[in-house]
Amino acid sequence: MNSDRILEPTPEHVERCARHLREGGLVGMPTETVYGLAADACDQEAVRRIYRAKSRPAGNPLIVHVARAEQARSFCEQWDDRCQQLADAFWPGPLTLVLKRSALASDSITAGQSTVAVRSPAHDVARALIEAADRALVAPSANQSGHVSSTTAAHVITEFPELEFPVLDGGMCALGIESTVLDLTGDHPIVLRPGAVTARALRNVLPDLEVPVIGEQGASPGTAPRHYAPHTPTELVTGGEIQDRLAGCSAPITVLSIGPRRVGVPHASVEMPDDPDAYARKLYAGLREADESDGSLILIESPPWTDGLWRAINDRLQRACAPPVSS
Ligand code: TXA
Ligand code: MG
Repeated sequence: MNSDRILEPTPEHVERCARHLREGGLVGMPTETVYGLAADACDQEAVRRIYRAKSRPAGNPLIVHVARAEQARSFCEQWDDRCQQLADAFWPGPLTLVLKRSALASDSITAGQSTVAVRSPAHDVARALIEAADRALVAPSANQSGHVSSTTAAHVITEFPELEFPVLDGGMCALGIESTVLDLTGDHPIVLRPGAVTARALRNVLPDLEVPVIGEQGASPGTAPRHYAPHTPTELVTGGEIQDRLAGCSAPITVLSIGPRRVGVPHASVEMPDDPDAYARKLYAGLREADESDGSLILIESPPWTDGLWRAINDRLQRACAPPVSS
């Protein structure tokens, strides 16, 4: 896609976007996980603009993105040794810490809760933008609420075709799956959203870490059962079930398969890698490709693995397939 909203991340363009942020505008920002939709964390009108742009429920709080740990501390009531150890071990990187908030973290970003989420992204362009804007930025994933996240600048334009905010092109996101959200406000640290930092890596610093069973974590306001979902109806099935499902259906089905799979007319397949890093990197682009194909149903071959990064991948796949909440 060619769009004049997509900007190469030259120093001039980064400075132009930083100015836009200081003036209350929104910017599509690449990170190492997924693209974010950034705004000044302390500009309440800009923050409201984000909620409107995404049709995001008002009760789902935002992550504050910072360049350095000191910047994160000002949004938190307390920053103890454990926080510092986690920041030393995992920042900049795909770990979000949920802590008691300070007065600087307004209700508009915390959704009225007494906690705030902070993270320092590892992408050079995100870091340059935060530094140039000279302020912390809130940045939810750059997609319509509940829809598939964006891992390229072109995805961001597809999600927000009517809006005019610029998108800095940081290439395809290196990790492709959102940060791990870790709540440090309770008796034990608990993973609210599995992500690119695995439980095993966290346990080196946090031996008492709790990791809820996928689908049962409910404490993070944004972890609604249905999320990351294509427009096309989507189901998770085992590899062994696919052939029967295809044979019994004359309408086109698109299969998100692990490795190559022959599907036969009128069906189609999108091939996903069997390596977890590569699968995560392609996850959202693969879901988008399947969504854009002619299939009236997407069948996702359920990865038979559950450890490490597969936990986060399976979490996203299950949510992509959860039934819509009827209202
Ligand atoms: O990798 C990422 O985290 C990406 C990139 C752009 O940084 N951002 C992202 O933001 O995924 P978003 O808004 O799509 O997801 C943020 C998650 C949501 O599940 C939200 O509910 C949770 O973090 N969250 C934010 N603040 C929280 C808080 N105070 N307490 C509990 N959960 C919180
Ligand atoms: Mg999101």
